[in-house]
Amino acid sequence: MSHVRIAPSILSADFGRLAEDIARVVEGGADLIHVDVMDGRYVPNLTFGAGAIAAARRACDLPLDVHLMVEEPERHLEPFAEAGASIFTFHPEATRHVQRHLAAARELGMRAGLALNPASPLALVEDVLDDLDLLLLMTVNPGYAGQRYIEGSSAKIRRARTLLERHGRAVWLEVDGGITADTIGTAFAAGADTFVAGSAVFGAPDPADAVRTLRRRCAVAV
Ligand code: DX5
Ligand code: ZN
Repeated sequence: MSHVRIAPSILSADFGRLAEDIARVVEGGADLIHVDVMDGRYVPNLTFGAGAIAAARRACDLPLDVHLMVEEPERHLEPFAEAGASIFTFHPEATRHVQRHLAAARELGMRAGLALNPASPLALVEDVLDDLDLLLLMTVNPGYAGQRYIEGSSAKIRRARTLLERHGRAVWLEVDGGITADTIGTAFAAGADTFVAGSAVFGAPDPADAVRTLRRRCAVAV
């Protein structure tokens, strides 16, 4: 089970008590802290910038898994690296020179990730697998926490797993959206190894316990 990574999304945290909420999921054994950056253009919602990333950085030692749902994500490469981002994941449709920006993320000391919306084909990442440390599959349409897992996602997770196995390099396969104690087993069985969860963790009475429950559900999934 060591390859299962749980990444609570602070989009569902209490922003007035961010450090305390992060401390709770650290206590529960979270592996990463997922930070959802939204610009009001690529998605309708507006969320965090470098200041919030720096605040999360001060609150814990876990890697910060920064997910940019923004147009021209490359504008944030340097400020986010400076703020303490560990993983820089963006959507390929939001920019033109995808490979250049993946390489730049690595040069700045971050891991490089690409995120695909439910309707975006795996073909968008096939030619840059060498430049990739993480592939994020959206299992809802991005923009908000608390949406339902799109069932058809499991087939895409399986295809992505096959693609990564064939390629041979260790690329993390992350799923994001609607991951709960009820859906995580399906996503794990399909081949995902990294699981973002917002409302299922911070909406639970005990976020530490919610992290443990999610991990346990992977252990019992076929
Ligand atoms: C959605 C974000 C997710 C969100 C997940 O656009 O990318 O990371 O926080 O929230 P839940 O787990 O509640 O679906
Ligand atoms: Zn996200």
